[in-house]
Amino acid sequence: MADVTSLLAAIDGTGRDARRGGYTRPVYSTPELELREWFLAEAVSRGLEVEQDRNGILWAWWDLPGAGRRGALVTGSHLDSVPGGGAFDGPLGVASALAAVDRLRAREAAGDLRRNRALAVAVFPEEEGSRFGVACLGSRLLAGAIDPAQALGLRDADGNTFADVSRAHGLDPERMGRDGETLALIGDFVELHVEQGRGLNTEEFTDAAGRGPALAVASSVLGHGRWRLSVHGQGNHAGTTLMEDRADPMVAAAQMVLAVRKVAAARPDARATVGRLEPVPGGTNVIASRVDLWLDVRHPDDATTAAVVETIHGQAQKIAAFEGCTVSLVEESYSGTVHFDDALGRSLARSVARTVPGAPALATGAGHDAGVLAGVVPTGMLFVRNPSGISHSPEEHVEDDDAAAGTAALADALEDLL
Ligand code: GLV
Ligand code: MN
Ligand code: MN
Ligand code: MN
Repeated sequence: MADVTSLLAAIDGTGRDARRGGYTRPVYSTPELELREWFLAEAVSRGLEVEQDRNGILWAWWDLPGAGRRGALVTGSHLDSVPGGGAFDGPLGVASALAAVDRLRAREAAGDLRRNRALAVAVFPEEEGSRFGVACLGSRLLAGAIDPAQALGLRDADGNTFADVSRAHGLDPERMGRDGETLALIGDFVELHVEQGRGLNTEEFTDAAGRGPALAVASSVLGHGRWRLSVHGQGNHAGTTLMEDRADPMVAAAQMVLAVRKVAAARPDARATVGRLEPVPGGTNVIASRVDLWLDVRHPDDATTAAVVETIHGQAQKIAAFEGCTVSLVEESYSGTVHFDDALGRSLARSVARTVPGAPALATGAGHDAGVLAGVVPTGMLFVRNPSGISHSPEEHVEDDDAAAGTAALADALEDLL
């Protein structure tokens, strides 16, 4: 019976990024495909039947003879990462799912578990949106939460379309999009994930030693979206162009980054980030002709998010005009705030209490496939303590004991729902 820490240790070398630190595993890149192969081998070694659906989601089935697969209990997460990400965001949910299946099979073999339905472990592609720009692309396609034509036209940094990359991966773009047959297989979905902020380490929850509880049950996912600001100026020579003759979109973009921080800081609970900025053509001795900035804005209230984006856009237009540039803004994706299923949340809380009595309910600012699936099936999440709260960074961390507690609680939760 594998434990979650040794499962994670087996993939520790895959996609390590020497330059950025951490791991870089974009969807359908060599490291992500290696992790999919690892998952396939782990599932097959457990006698699970693995299938890839028409949207590239992997399903490992622990069937219940005579019961079929409709309305099954599903758990899982993702194996792709942000550039230079941590070891746990995604893989913890997949590894703990496999380890939980081991526990449940042992209980069944001992006559201590009677199941009413099949169980599947799912692995979702492009959860981070770090290759094609839209997060949770696999679950959005499955749920019909994105127009397949829009998804298939998305391009990666090398100009490859999602349609072409999907085709090269053996998928048929014509068949991608809302998949009612597969949705009908999901009775409930439960995702275990590393906590990605300081939520469990706040005074409200910590003990005298300053240690928070190992686990929480998710209550909601903050509304979030991505917008692209494109600043157009005059490309020119760094040595011959006098300072007063320039229309430099990089200078405008720098001021826009400062404006983004100021606008968000003025709204309680708003978060706004420019984490990616691309000067075109991008040469040290070249004044850029264009700079693209990607804006990530999050707030519990849709109208406030819209107001934050609108204010940023207005300020960006003023900044651009002052610098002799122009700016355009395009929405690339948006997901409103999601509240997880109440009944499933209560069931998860009862199960988790066997491992961590009084585990709190916690809202998260991070996006998840569970947030997308919550729109179409009863969905819940478990969070595992992150001592520093740092995530999307090589310093993301989970202690072995907490990962083990997460696996134990996930196994109990699945048992109670099976
Ligand atoms: C993904 O992890 C996100 O929250 O953006
Ligand atoms: Mn994740
Ligand atoms: Mn992430
Ligand atoms: Mn995420």
